[in-house]
Amino acid sequence: MQFSEVILQWYAENGRALPWRESADPYKIWVSEIILQQTRVAQGMDYYRRFVRAFPTVEALAEADEDEVMHQWQGLGYYSRARNLHAAARQVVARGAFPDTLDEVRRLKGVGDYTAAAICSFAFGLPVAVVDGNVYRVLSRYFALATPIDTSAGKKAFAELAAELLPKDADRVADYNQALMDFGALQCVPATPHCETCPLADSCGARGEQRVADFPVKSHRTQVKERHFVYIDVVTPEGRWLHRRGAGDIWQGLYEVPLLEFDHAPSLQEVQAHPFVRQQLPEGGVWTQVARQRKHVLTHRVLWADCYRLRYDFPVALPPNHIAVPREDLPRYALPRLLTLLLTDN
Ligand code: ADE
Repeated sequence: MQFSEVILQWYAENGRALPWRESADPYKIWVSEIILQQTRVAQGMDYYRRFVRAFPTVEALAEADEDEVMHQWQGLGYYSRARNLHAAARQVVARGAFPDTLDEVRRLKGVGDYTAAAICSFAFGLPVAVVDGNVYRVLSRYFALATPIDTSAGKKAFAELAAELLPKDADRVADYNQALMDFGALQCVPATPHCETCPLADSCGARGEQRVADFPVKSHRTQVKERHFVYIDVVTPEGRWLHRRGAGDIWQGLYEVPLLEFDHAPSLQEVQAHPFVRQQLPEGGVWTQVARQRKHVLTHRVLWADCYRLRYDFPVALPPNHIAVPREDLPRYALPRLLTLLLTDN
């Protein structure tokens, strides 16, 4: 199946029912996209509903006073969004109709390339790719595309790739664009992507190289990046679980015990709720914490590592690409220094 087909099928099963998806009214879609520029979906929903109730048409918004508009926006922040919306509503009413080409939509105050593409795709069904942060992440991972996304060459490369991937059937483009955003927001999430349940995992470039966390690449890392690792030292009667790290990172070719990554230091409950744990590590093992928040400094990264030992007194099926190594054979496997320290800590 083609990439777009897999994404559309995933969306049919997992897509979110969001209020702006019930309408093809360009005005409502525009309002939703402006709200979502700097606001999370969960918070944006209520504001969206209230805003379109207060101003159900572009004419109603154009006629409103600025105070009323700002009042509806109160609490959302980035108030220039509301001022621009209001000014642009007056532009639309003055020209007589909502613009319906990419160039004309792009000329509305406060509308950039991303928002223009979203409006034209969702409201008018134009076959344009909508490329937001979610889409950069999904495409950079799936195609292991390492061109930095914060450069003009990167933006061009991703825009071209995104355009090539659009479904050939123009009627499905709008859904596909929504689908890719949801796929990034729910499945291929920034810090802890759910690769175990991902329909694209087998053909994912970043996953194949075990470098999912390295994408998307940015040229200007603003600060030294902090990463939060949790090692799970799984010990069964057959031995300790190890797997070999793939190409392309500092620990390439070394072995490690199962490793989860979080965007913060997680509690044991959060670790136990991780899809890898739920799917690969049956109940009945005994968890003990063997290292907590151990700091490891690398050139461009600070790693914070927790380590848990999980002992089973019964055999457990190995996850793909893992081996069980008896204690006496462990010295034959090269482990990253950080992991050696964690495992020999106690
Ligand atoms: N973020 C920005 N636009 C969105 C949309 N249409 N659906 C979900 N999340 C979004």
